[in-house]
Amino acid sequence: MDLKEYLQQEEFIVKCECGISLMKAKLQIINAELGMRFGRKVIHNMSSRIKSYDSIAAKLKRKGLPENTQAVREHINDMVGIRAVCTYTDDLYQIAEMLCAQKDMRLLKKKDYIKKPKKSGYRSLHLIFLVPISFQAEVYWIKMEVQLRTAAMDYWAGLDYQLQYKKENCEAKNIGRELKEYANAIQQIDSKVLELRKWIEAI
Ligand code: GTP
Ligand code: MG
Repeated sequence: MDLKEYLQQEEFIVKCECGISLMKAKLQIINAELGMRFGRKVIHNMSSRIKSYDSIAAKLKRKGLPENTQAVREHINDMVGIRAVCTYTDDLYQIAEMLCAQKDMRLLKKKDYIKKPKKSGYRSLHLIFLVPISFQAEVYWIKMEVQLRTAAMDYWAGLDYQLQYKKENCEAKNIGRELKEYANAIQQIDSKVLELRKWIEAI
């Protein structure tokens, strides 16, 4: 079976959707626990997506990999992606810690683009998990990318995605420089907002 057929198979999609449900449930439980503990809403928005065949094929090509299921299994971490958006940076680390402490899934990789932003200015905390899905009396391990970001980081990433990310044009360098400045401004707002919350909490 070729890759396109495989990725568009109902069984494959259903398994990915099961992974999404499971991870969303975990995040909802964490949100409920932290909401109780902190007395405020922690996760403001959650979204998910299964990567399309076209983006997978483009990514494999970019990475110089063959277009087959083995390459996807071994090298594509974000076939299934969940994003949780919070207001404060410290909540992102709290959620990450609680996810990583869970014994029924395995952390494969942690990419902290908050402590070490990408060259573009992109900031987010990425966790790649291997999650077991019980399906038709068998256990399948699914790789999932969890992206944790503040609303400000999300705003910037959306802007960058719309205007620049993975696009080519002759002004790319200058546009990139401009966007990077916005990323820095947004980073400053994020840290000020966190300080303000801590100040108010201490009153
Ligand atoms: P791709 O960037 O998708 O090729 O994935 P990768 O395997 O190189 O991993 P990486 O951690 O670089 O990126 C994973 C995901 O983070 C992407 O699919 C995007 O959702 C997001 N991302 C990474 N870099 C940027 C960026 O510069 N701008 C925006 N808007 N999003 C980014
Ligand atoms: Mg990349």
